[in-house]
Amino acid sequence: MTTADRIETLKTEALDAVHEAGSTSDLEDVRVRYLGRASGLVEIKKSIGSLSDEEKKVVGKSSNRATREIEAALLDKTARLAAEEREARLRAESVDVTLPGVPFPKGSLHPTQRIIDDVVDFFIGLGYSVAEGPEVETDYYNFTALGIPPGHPARSMQDTFFLDDGLVMRTHTSPVQVRTMLSKEPPVYVVCPGRTYRRDSDPTHTPMFNQIEGLAVDRGITLAHLKGTLAAMARRVFGNEVEIRLRPSYFQFTEPSVEMDVSCFLCGGGRDADPECKVCKGAGWLEMGGAGMVDPDVLGNVGYDPEEFTGFAFGFGPDRMAMVKYGIPDLRMFFEGDLRFLKQF
Ligand code: DAH
Repeated sequence: MTTADRIETLKTEALDAVHEAGSTSDLEDVRVRYLGRASGLVEIKKSIGSLSDEEKKVVGKSSNRATREIEAALLDKTARLAAEEREARLRAESVDVTLPGVPFPKGSLHPTQRIIDDVVDFFIGLGYSVAEGPEVETDYYNFTALGIPPGHPARSMQDTFFLDDGLVMRTHTSPVQVRTMLSKEPPVYVVCPGRTYRRDSDPTHTPMFNQIEGLAVDRGITLAHLKGTLAAMARRVFGNEVEIRLRPSYFQFTEPSVEMDVSCFLCGGGRDADPECKVCKGAGWLEMGGAGMVDPDVLGNVGYDPEEFTGFAFGFGPDRMAMVKYGIPDLRMFFEGDLRFLKQF
């Protein structure tokens, strides 16, 4: 076979191989085999030096032409295959945005938490801060500092869970008042949401329940400030139409003390109460909790001057408020963690 024939054969083989190649990596193999350093064409070019002048011209020309033709074929096919491969990859990666998605289960806030959030938001809007205290409390903060010394009959009314070493599960959030006042100078404006504990269980009482305590101590605070604050808070939680009323009551740590009621937000309440009303059962008023002017003795216990400062305090039960607002008959449902119940909120 003459060198010219060999060049022609190699070229034909190479062009056939390009034609056959099914992928860009096949093409790379073809390039190495026919144009690479160990390829027939390169060998022929290397041997040119030993040829006669006449042959040099012919072989040089035809081997260069063959190289260019193969390169051109490779380039052309590479471009085509690369485009096809890209197309196929994009098709494989494509997402059908019209397919229905996988539903992501969303949680919902516990009804009590909704009330707590509403109340806390309201007071933050008035410039109050949020304070917290421990659920395992000392006897002193839970009782004595609030005017309920050892042996006082009010202690037995609270159905306390007693722990060792003078500790109790706090029976109310009022000890947070004491802790707050001990930790800072007046004026004080705080709300204290938290869990509280009493030995009690029936449709409207659970051993663990929530309270929200509030405390404002400043110069010149009066019962009128308390009433206005509570009325605005009740409207925020139950709607713009509601009114509140204060009834005389007794707590060891307030003087005077009041019980606060909200007019029924469903039937309108008051004297026009609907005797069949599902929410107030005809009473017209819903009990929210206790309140009063902070007893001067309590202010004295924490080192505030009762001649200079006065304050009001209140404590109510967000669980009860949620029962009333959402029409839930049994408080125990709040703490059973039944998703069918919780998902309704
Ligand atoms: N701590 C009381 C209770 O749990 C509620 C209460 C009444 C809190 C009057 C107060 C208050 O801050 O002023 O029964």
